Amino acid sequence: MGRRYVAGMKRVTLGSTGLRVSAQGLGCMGMSHGYGPADQAESLAVLRRALELGVTFWDTADYYANGANERLLATVLADHRAEVEIATKFGLVGGVTPSGGAQQVRGDPPYVRAACDASLRRLRVDVIDLYYQHRVDVSVPIEDTVGAMAELVDAGKVRHLGLSEATATELRRAHAVHPIAAVQSEWSLWSRDVEAAVVPACRELGVGFVPYSPLGRGFLTGQLTAIDSLPENDIRRAQPRLQAGVVDANRALVDVVRKVAAALGATPAQVALAWVHHRAAVWEVPVVPIPGTKRTRWLDQNVAAVELHLPADALERLDGLAERAAGDRHPQMGLTSAGDRP
Ligand SMILES: NC(=O)c1ccc[n+]([C@@H]2O[C@H](COP(=O)([O-])OP(=O)(O)OC[C@H]3O[C@@H](n4cnc5c(N)ncnc54)[C@H](OP(=O)(O)O)[C@@H]3O)[C@@H](O)[C@H]2O)c1
Repeated sequence: MGRRYVAGMKRVTLGSTGLRVSAQGLGCMGMSHGYGPADQAESLAVLRRALELGVTFWDTADYYANGANERLLATVLADHRAEVEIATKFGLVGGVTPSGGAQQVRGDPPYVRAACDASLRRLRVDVIDLYYQHRVDVSVPIEDTVGAMAELVDAGKVRHLGLSEATATELRRAHAVHPIAAVQSEWSLWSRDVEAAVVPACRELGVGFVPYSPLGRGFLTGQLTAIDSLPENDIRRAQPRLQAGVVDANRALVDVVRKVAAALGATPAQVALAWVHHRAAVWEVPVVPIPGTKRTRWLDQNVAAVELHLPADALERLDGLAERAAGDRHPQMGLTSAGDRP
């Protein structure tokens, strides 16, 4: 089936390798993994609605529910492959630890090759549009990992390469082996540490940026207020910023987002997303956030943020929020680093 061009949704070139994607993507993780129970029929409805809206840049990973998330996407991709830019990731192995992270990180070349073949099988596609290393395996030189990823491009199994949670130094080393199309790391109103070194490196190298958790894992929307309200197996129970002792301070940040939203006739989620979109112009880097949802009503709301303009006074009120955020942004800060490795 050919690509349907949908009026309204802008498209963006991510990085210098020519990857064209919708200006806003769709984070699919929560449809299978990490964020409480999901209704498969509703998740499939979200994917189909995303096609209608032109939200065609879909984000998954082999790690999400041990491949089940890729299999879920495959059911829609089967009839719509040409319309979707499919991004998946390799490198996190084993179950989720009590602190919400993976048991192991693998970046050795034989593992990279095997992981890619397995993702292609699960997704039931011939080629992956954007293949990310989910976490840098510090026991393997990144040149070796990216060398193996580059061979996948040569073999026609992958179109573009990406890195997730890489440092600026790692990005430079990787990019010297093969052009990197995009870095995917956390970037939102309350998590801006990537702006210190990684985003400037993206600008310098011509690499796009894909902010994950642009809604602060739901917290910035004002809908998620306390970890007690989350199911036992929800990985956000390990979120440092939701813990007693800091959560009240962080709720005060959400109050600011709420007030800005009310003044604009928008929702807090739309303001959080519009802010991330706005950073593209500030940094002169292509920025394509991938808000996660398993509900069509949130998808419809989020898409509208592409067109939401934040006036100067709103930007001013939102500017200092990240500095006031209490608690680490991630339960496993040793694994993930926005600056240099410790
Ligand atoms: N590279 C990495 O290491 C990494 C790490 C984390 C995530 N990711 C990727 O990034 C994607 C997005 O990140 P994320 O899912 O962690 O966090 P997020 O996008 O910041 O937030 C997702 C949460 O917000 C809720 N939500 C979405 N839109 C909303 C709206 N308009 N109003 C109220 N609530 C709304 C969702 O609820 P429902 O679930 O009920 O729809 C979900 O609980 C993931 O799906 C995944 O693909 C990558």
